[in-house]
Amino acid sequence: AGQKLAASGADGVVACATCHGAQGQGMAAAGFPYLAGQGAAYLAEQLHHFASGSRGNAVMAPIAKALSDQQIADVTAYYAQLPAAFDTKTLAGHADPYPTKDAGAWLANRGDWDNDIPACVQCHGPGGVGVGTQFPALAGQSANYLKAQLSAWKEGKRDPGPLDLMGDIAKRMSDAQITAVADYFAGL
Ligand code: HEM
Ligand code: HEM
Repeated sequence: AGQKLAASGADGVVACATCHGAQGQGMAAAGFPYLAGQGAAYLAEQLHHFASGSRGNAVMAPIAKALSDQQIADVTAYYAQLPAAFDTKTLAGHADPYPTKDAGAWLANRGDWDNDIPACVQCHGPGGVGVGTQFPALAGQSANYLKAQLSAWKEGKRDPGPLDLMGDIAKRMSDAQITAVADYFAGL
């Protein structure tokens, strides 16, 4: 149903493909965003925002208003399963601003969201240089030291600190991830 709606439209709704492309790839020249491979929850939320007016857009507003909740669920499920412009697991087809060849670099810069581990650089800064007064630098610290800290949190032997963030993060990390990410920051 989602595919049909996207390709041919529905009562009072022009085909999404007209603007978002036959493969959901968007039309960059016109400023129409790609939808392929984006999370269904994200896309559906945007359609509800366009419909309510809390996200203002003259083009999308009438389209979103004309869609039923079921049509929104169908069409967003359809776009979510289309192949993205680049593979979000490997970044194939995408110019990667960070070296992601090894597992440590990947974890540090992208996280491991299947296991609810955020990218370390989100708090420790790009390049692990530290941010503000409570987020310590990791770059160039010895791998043994970094490994020991993460293991200590994992085993409940280091106080989680006032922001209480690293304890939970370390507990979700495998020993292989701890070693890889420690080596990565040590090498920066
Ligand atoms: C944005 C879905 C039809 C033009 C969006 C977004 C979604 C969406 C989910 C937000 C994307 C994001 O935040 O990353 C749909 C669906 C359609 C449809 C499901 C069919 C039922 C169209 C058509 C046009 C169009 C036919 C052109 C006439 C746009 C534009 C934006 C947009 C210009 C960007 C809005 C902004 O700048 O905030 N659409 N769309 N869409 N769409 Fe559509
Ligand atoms: C401290 C590693 C992700 C917030 C530390 C330390 C290490 C570390 C080794 C101790 C530094 C030292 O003793 O000098 C990592 C790694 C991460 C990661 C490898 C990614 C897997 C994050 C994220 C946040 C965060 C996403 C924020 C949400 C903090 C804070 C401290 C800290 C606040 C200081 C804790 C304290 O006050 O004792 N991190 N971190 N870290 N990290 Fe992370």
